Amino acid sequence: MPVITTIDDFKPIYRRRVPKMFYDYAESGSWTEQTFRENTSDFDKIRLRQRVAVDMEGRTTESTMIGEPVAMPVALAPVGLTGMQHADGEIKAARAAEKFGVPFTLSTMSICSIEDVATHTSKPFWFQLYVMRDEEYVAALIQRAKDAGCSAMVLTLDLQILGQRHKDLKNGLTAPPKLTPATMLDLATKWRWGMEMLQTKRRKFGNIVGHAKGVTDASSLSSWTAEQFDPQLDWAKVAKLKEQWGGKLILKGILDADDARKAAEIGADAIVVSNHGGRQLDGALSSIRVLPSIVDAVGDKVEIHLDSGIRSGQDVLKALALGAKGTYIGRAFTYGLGAMGQRGVTTALEIIHRELDTTMALCGRKDVKTLDRDVLLVPKDFEGDWA
Ligand code: GLV
Repeated sequence: MPVITTIDDFKPIYRRRVPKMFYDYAESGSWTEQTFRENTSDFDKIRLRQRVAVDMEGRTTESTMIGEPVAMPVALAPVGLTGMQHADGEIKAARAAEKFGVPFTLSTMSICSIEDVATHTSKPFWFQLYVMRDEEYVAALIQRAKDAGCSAMVLTLDLQILGQRHKDLKNGLTAPPKLTPATMLDLATKWRWGMEMLQTKRRKFGNIVGHAKGVTDASSLSSWTAEQFDPQLDWAKVAKLKEQWGGKLILKGILDADDARKAAEIGADAIVVSNHGGRQLDGALSSIRVLPSIVDAVGDKVEIHLDSGIRSGQDVLKALALGAKGTYIGRAFTYGLGAMGQRGVTTALEIIHRELDTTMALCGRKDVKTLDRDVLLVPKDFEGDWA
């Protein structure tokens, strides 16, 4: 087994182990993938201020996200089809997160159901909601998340319709994979994945199949979203969903200061500055680039989190220093999960933690909660001068 020292080290193993359609699903942005690429390349433009002769003893990465203690401010993002990256993937990722002391967010479009994850974990996790046209089904989903003891609802606002990811269409993405000559050829080289999948009963969208009425084939994410997701989701509906849920609410997919103000007005507990990992509006700015403008607009009114582009502890530090209170990793844990199951997710978290801790120390800081703009060197034109 190769020595894994960075998140990128998982990728070749992940690629070898997991069927192409699921690797491609995770590794895609929409259309030209400009936003997907810039989510990471914009992090690289920010540099760090090295400081010396500072006592580095007693460092801590502990903090809170929406009032919950976290070992480091890095939550696992909701990722659709996680249970196709590895058998029982959501349960494994949730257990790794729980052991590490960071939040796990279960996607509506997960393979393992809310109840399944609750049964196999002992701490509350967060539930991500996609709003469907069928109000009864949405109400039932919310109730299921309450019954499972979820401690926050993460309401995604940037996916009323699905951004086009070319590879998913070309690969004929479904869960489970439909057997065609191309998928069979691919699966023949992914026998370990196949053997593990055969040993679990969780191979369909667990929150949907058997729960949503009149669903005969929910295997295709693109058809399901096109038919079922609510294109009329607006701020009035968000306010209603907040009432319905009644608990901590995180609004995900905010990329504009005006929308951030709306989210704060509605009384969200946190907002996630996110462009959905570059999977929705291609051509949108990277999350890290818009973060400062959103912190300026609502930093004193609502807790701000950042998602999209985080692949290292240095990225985490940069986001925190620019004013985020928490961050999310999606692909970074998915690579680990696909490559090595639960152990891979734990290793991904350990890598990010080590990078965050060492970087913080070399920037002359001991406490992640005190990170501020002072530890960074940000190019003057970083945010861009857009008209
Ligand atoms: C959402 O589920 C996505 O595929 O981005």
